[in-house]
Amino acid sequence: MSDYLVKVSGIVKKYGGHEVLKKVSFDLKPGEVHCIVGENGAGKSTLIKIISGAVHPDSGEIFIMGRKVRNLNPRLAIELGISTVYQDTEVVDTLSVAENIFLGSEVPSPIPIVVNRRYQNEQAKAILKSLGISIDPDIPVGELPLVYKQVVQIAKALFRQSKIIIFDEPTASLGLEETKALMEIIRSLKKRGMGIIYISHYLKEIFEIGDRVTVLKDGEYMGTYKVSEVDTEFLVRKMVGREVHLFYKRERVPIGEKLFEVKGLSKKELVENVSFEVRKGEIFGIGGLAGSGRTELVSLIFGILKPDAGEIYIEGRRYVPKTPIHAIRNGICMVPEDRKRMAMFLGRDIVENSVVIINELLKVAFLRKKEEMNMTRRLINELDIVTSGFSQLIEHLSGGNQQKVVMGRWLLDENAKVFIFDEPTKGVDVGARERIYQVMIELAKQGKAIIMVSSDMPELLSMSDRIGVMRKGKMVEILDNKDLSEEKLLRSFIGV
Ligand SMILES: Nc1ncnc2c1ncn2[C@@H]1O[C@H](COP(=O)(O)OP(=O)(O)OP(=O)(O)O)[C@@H](O)[C@H]1O
Ligand SMILES: [Mg+2]
Repeated sequence: MSDYLVKVSGIVKKYGGHEVLKKVSFDLKPGEVHCIVGENGAGKSTLIKIISGAVHPDSGEIFIMGRKVRNLNPRLAIELGISTVYQDTEVVDTLSVAENIFLGSEVPSPIPIVVNRRYQNEQAKAILKSLGISIDPDIPVGELPLVYKQVVQIAKALFRQSKIIIFDEPTASLGLEETKALMEIIRSLKKRGMGIIYISHYLKEIFEIGDRVTVLKDGEYMGTYKVSEVDTEFLVRKMVGREVHLFYKRERVPIGEKLFEVKGLSKKELVENVSFEVRKGEIFGIGGLAGSGRTELVSLIFGILKPDAGEIYIEGRRYVPKTPIHAIRNGICMVPEDRKRMAMFLGRDIVENSVVIINELLKVAFLRKKEEMNMTRRLINELDIVTSGFSQLIEHLSGGNQQKVVMGRWLLDENAKVFIFDEPTKGVDVGARERIYQVMIELAKQGKAIIMVSSDMPELLSMSDRIGVMRKGKMVEILDNKDLSEEKLLRSFIGV
């Protein structure tokens, strides 16, 4: 038996001649959490896809539990004990918790063909209980909050008796409490002697649960370190290759007259009587715990949800939300939290996802191919988008770079006045985060009104002029961002 659950060495992966992994090594021991960090596009997801058999390397060796594996594929990886918990979750919403856990390995019942539902439910319950979770295995997964969808995937891995669980940015869409719960589960998996591979842009999490950390930079292996022997500064320098301000010190922008106003906005059971205003040049932060109604509030403004009551004004003119396209034509744009489902045109390239889509939405003059290319080039330079070329499909960009494209398209919309960013730096690396903040400041300087929903406390505190706190669908407080601390803010979120 080998000491390692997984060991890979000399891994090379090319896409269209571009080497995205350059002789990378990585190993995982039982009972440890081995983290992978690096900037957007560094190759983290590609590396774990190779370990889970979803992507074939061009060269390099893979050993799983001491056995050399030549033609790894997803099925074989699962058989060998490797499970991946995906963030864009792999669960089937319409099936129950138990059905999802057993999907692909249904337990036969005495009556052939029919699966043994009762047995499955009992088993599912036992597995969930061992994770300290009590949810009814009979309810459809679609009705559960996101963290439970991940829990279901973890339960599935336990049922398959996996030895290795891979997490690729599991907390990017989770709130504070949910993140805490997931950390607790990961600790319990460690205790069972499982090996965990953990990718996150939140370095705080690495220090909380990581045992070792491997740094990738532009596909290059920068080294593996014991977490207890490094600090944040060290990791950031390895990842980015320069100093990064961990707490962004923003430039102040003069605040002008009222541009945007919401009065008594309500939607049954989701949002109740919310009022606030945003001035020209102002960044209005919206904070609160997960499920407090933040995303629902901005979805009402952008015309995704229909309000039951309330009024909205843009530059003093009444605006009644109808559809997102109508919102865009009225000068409101939004980068939604769930960008993959709501903001990306899959199967289309970067040009189509930025310049072309804006032109279609706004019905502006027809652009020639060359102009489209020039505008896209400007965007790529301005936002530092890592891409192999203009024709790269958006789903083939790394997560953080997808975010930059979705955000960047609105910079081309000259008609936009109100910018809504729902979790603007979710999945964005520490270096690129600064770039996105600069873009927001630039928009503020141009006199735009900016609404930023964020779960990231340092981000809320460093970027917002004022912060509206949501609790149970209500905006309970609007805080001037002076002498605020994380602790004060959290108290307001919880209501103590
Ligand atoms: N199917 C593909 N076709 C072409 N290029 C790809 C494909 N998959 C990934 N790439 C490229 O490989 C590089 C590494 O991407 P990867 O997704 O591994 O980055 P990452 O470190 O996970 O980044 P992020 O933090 O943004 O998620 C990127 O430049 C990406 O554009
Ligand atoms: Mg990734």
